Amino acid sequence: MSFAPLANDTFLRACLRQATPYTPLWLMRQAGRYLPEYKATRSRAGSFMGLATNVDYATEVTLQPLERFPLDAAILFSDILTVPDAMGLGLSFAEGEGPKLARPLRDEAAVARLAVPDLEQLRYVFDAVTSIRHALKGRVPLIGFSGSPWTLACYMVEGSGSKDDWRGVKSMLYSRPDLMHRILAVNAEAVIGYLNAQIEAGAQAVMVFDSWGGALADGAFQEFSLAYTERVLAGLKRSHEGQVIPRLVFTKGGGLWLEQMGALDCEVLGVDWTVNLGRARALVGGAKALQGNLDPAALFAPPAQVAQQARRVLEAFGTPHTGPGAGPTHIFNLGHGISQFTPPEHVAALVEAVHTHSRAMRPQVSGKA
Ligand code: CP3
Repeated sequence: MSFAPLANDTFLRACLRQATPYTPLWLMRQAGRYLPEYKATRSRAGSFMGLATNVDYATEVTLQPLERFPLDAAILFSDILTVPDAMGLGLSFAEGEGPKLARPLRDEAAVARLAVPDLEQLRYVFDAVTSIRHALKGRVPLIGFSGSPWTLACYMVEGSGSKDDWRGVKSMLYSRPDLMHRILAVNAEAVIGYLNAQIEAGAQAVMVFDSWGGALADGAFQEFSLAYTERVLAGLKRSHEGQVIPRLVFTKGGGLWLEQMGALDCEVLGVDWTVNLGRARALVGGAKALQGNLDPAALFAPPAQVAQQARRVLEAFGTPHTGPGAGPTHIFNLGHGISQFTPPEHVAALVEAVHTHSRAMRPQVSGKA
């Protein structure tokens, strides 16, 4: 497949711990309901899945935040729950509510029937990746993504998000760990195939969202989340058509396990806002780039305060590596997805503050931007 050469490679360079003239940034859930143009396209599509399964709509909404803000990466517009949907669990999103699976894994027989999906069922995702790469015309790199085996299992067992601390999935984990391990093994294999197909379709980096890893007890995290993230990482393509494909892992609430996560075979660790970036850099910055970690709620404050909080995050990390070779680097992001109640002008202030202040923090270095 041939795509336009990359004009802004700051995100990919920072993933590989190479120097950049400023700190690149993108935002988790950057295409979403805080943008009026997203809501307009969503209502034309009729539903979230109507958006995600239509290549033209998925391409349009992926590019929407980039039309407004000079972000340094695009992320595929889709959802982590496309994988359980392809496994036959029946995904829907009601307006204003979270995701619902019609056929959650409630008993042993359902777990026994679970199988790795035919990737053809997810062709719409891979087609969207290729379409977005063409539409980007090399402006910024495209990130593909998946849920982690554990985070997918949370939804697959509960059938939705949880209002009672993941009672269903944790009951299974403690009473029938064998069933839990079977689900996780199937999920890991599914995620490997799903992410490798995104890479082949044109994704230039891939991110594993372990959104609920932090809900686990110490010990259980390592056994039921981290071990399967490791399995996924071991199965991913390292490069495609001569380009290294950086792998990012984000465990929300994973700050306490950073040292162990530092040993993962990936390029970037994402951290939430409970983590001090300077401390994280001291713990793992010798081996991994770090991504994060502004509290998304900081974006509710007026632009001047947003800029101040952005500078705090940049300064907590400190001056990144600026010389030749590899060293500690930072990719600015939020500590979790952007809220639908965020005023878009505050995002503009954030992007401006991160670019300006991070440039001022370092001597000028070469790199396309
Ligand atoms: O970042 C992006 O712009 C790309 C798109 C993206 C979506 N979901 C679109 C979406 C990504 C990367 C995701 C990942 C995702 N989905 C995660 C992992 C990241 C995280 O937030 O922890 C999880 C746990 C999900 C599951 C999910 N999807 C939930 C819990 C919800 C409902 C909550 C909410 O924010 O509405 C969704 C729906 C969803 N996924 C929306 C979007 C834009 C809103 C749906 C709508 O338009 O009605």
